[in-house]
Amino acid sequence: MLRLGVLVSGRGSNLQAIIDGIEARKVDARIRVVISDNPKAYALDRCKRHRIPARVVSREDFPSREEFERRIVSILKEEEVELVVLAGFMRILGRTFLSEFPNRVINIHPALIPAFQGLHAQRRAVEFGAKITGCSVHIVDESVDGGPVIVQAAVPVLPEDTEGTLSDRILKFEHRILPQAVQWFAEGRVRVEGRRVIVEGARYGTLPVNPELEKF
Ligand code: GAR
Repeated sequence: MLRLGVLVSGRGSNLQAIIDGIEARKVDARIRVVISDNPKAYALDRCKRHRIPARVVSREDFPSREEFERRIVSILKEEEVELVVLAGFMRILGRTFLSEFPNRVINIHPALIPAFQGLHAQRRAVEFGAKITGCSVHIVDESVDGGPVIVQAAVPVLPEDTEGTLSDRILKFEHRILPQAVQWFAEGRVRVEGRRVIVEGARYGTLPVNPELEKF
């Protein structure tokens, strides 16, 4: 069973998708700890409900980003975490953190990266007039939402879309590709070659989700 650490900042619906996948036995993992940088995050209520250990680590309590990151690393190491999942964690992690978990930190982003990296990706897709956007699960490197892509789902933008309606449509796919990616790690099928990630045995070439989902 893959030992997970999940980092959150807010609502935690992607955390919930992982919890649901685990409870449905589709994801062969265990959440050892959830860490929130926001004491008011609704994600923390979800942890209580599911009896998942949760910690708050606030950036303001540390004089530097390095010290903040070292504290999070020490919690994750204590829990012997093997994969770190950023599920709506709204901070950039630097080398202090990432060097401790090489190719073992993944993030969900609500756009087809490298399009619309950073904040307000859905609003920017509407404003830009994009016709297709989507979501991506990627390995985290020092860039902002720019690391090697594991899986992406394409989502159409409709003429009447607002930021809200488009976000909801994308979110449904976030909740499928993120637990699926975790399960691929649990099965030991994720191979990283430089910028390219291969999921061993996955079927590639079908749209709108590429590679094709298996259990979700
Ligand atoms: C999700 O849409 C996620 O993709 C996005 O924040 C939201 C968190 O929702 N993440 C980013 O924009 C990262 N750059 P959640 O707390 O309900 O999972």
